[in-house]
Amino acid sequence: MKKLSRNDKVVVLTGAGISAESGIRTFRDSGGLWENHKVEDVATWSGFEKNPALVWKFYRQRWEDSNATKPNAAHYALVDMEKYFAQHFCLITQNVDGLHRIAGSINPLEMHGNLNYCYCTSCRAKFDMKDTDAHVAIPLCPKCGAYLRPDIVWFGEIPYYLYEIENSLKKCDVFIIIGTSGSVYPAAGFVMTAKLMGAETIAINLDAPDNLSFIDEFHQGKSGTILPSLVKKWTAMV
Ligand code: OAD
Ligand code: ZN
Repeated sequence: MKKLSRNDKVVVLTGAGISAESGIRTFRDSGGLWENHKVEDVATWSGFEKNPALVWKFYRQRWEDSNATKPNAAHYALVDMEKYFAQHFCLITQNVDGLHRIAGSINPLEMHGNLNYCYCTSCRAKFDMKDTDAHVAIPLCPKCGAYLRPDIVWFGEIPYYLYEIENSLKKCDVFIIIGTSGSVYPAAGFVMTAKLMGAETIAINLDAPDNLSFIDEFHQGKSGTILPSLVKKWTAMV
C-alpha cells in the first residue's frame, strides 16, 4: 500500500457513495434515486421547462433529506487529510449535499452545485434556500419575480470549477476516488487524466467503478470504515 509524503499533491474526487453512510441515497445502486426518477424529467433544463413544479418537488425533498443528515467518518477523514497536506490538497466533489463543508472541509470544489442554493433563471441572482420562500410549488426570485431553479448542474450543463480541476489534475501526484461509480463524465474521466499525467491512482468504493482500469490500488468496501484507517496510514497520523 502506498505511503504518502507530506509534499505529495493529493487530489480527491468524491461521489454519492461517501454520503451513503450518512443516510443519503446514491443514484445507481439498488434503491438509488435514478431507479424511481427519470434523469430527463428531473435533471435536465428541458425537464425543468416542461414541469418546474415536479423538478422543485424532487430537489426540495433532497434538500430537506440532506439537511436532516450529518457527515460521517469518511467526510471527517478528508478534513484530517486537508489539515495534513494543507495547500497540497484539493477536494473535488460531485455531491450536492454540502456535507464536506459541514464536516469542515475548507474549499471543496462542488462541481455539480449545492442543494442549499438556488438561482434566478432570469437575472441569475443566487440565493441561500433558507432566504427564499422554498415551500411554494415554484419558488420565485425576490428581486425580479422570475422562476428560481436549484443550483444544481444538470445533464447537458457545464460543471463548475473545470479550470481549477484541470490545473489540480495536471499537478497531482496521487489521485483518489471515493464512492463514485465512474459513469458520469467529465468527472469519470479525471482518473484517466491524472494517471496519464503520471499520478498514482487509488479507489475506495463498495463496487468496482466503471473506470477501474485506470486505478492502481483498489480498496473495496464502505468508505466510512476504510477511509479513516487508510488516512491514518497514509499520513502516519497513528
Ligand atoms: P452513483 O450512484 O453513480 O455511484 C455511487 C457509488 O458509490 C457506487 O459505485 C457504489 O458502489 C458506491 N458506494 C455505495 N455505498 C458506498 C459506501 N458506503 N462507501 C463507498 N462506496 C459506496 O453516484 P455518483 O458516482 O456520485 O449527477 O454519480 C455521479 C453523478 O451522477 C452524480 O453527481 C449525479 C448523478 O446523476 C447529477 O445529478 C448531475
Ligand atoms: Zn431574478
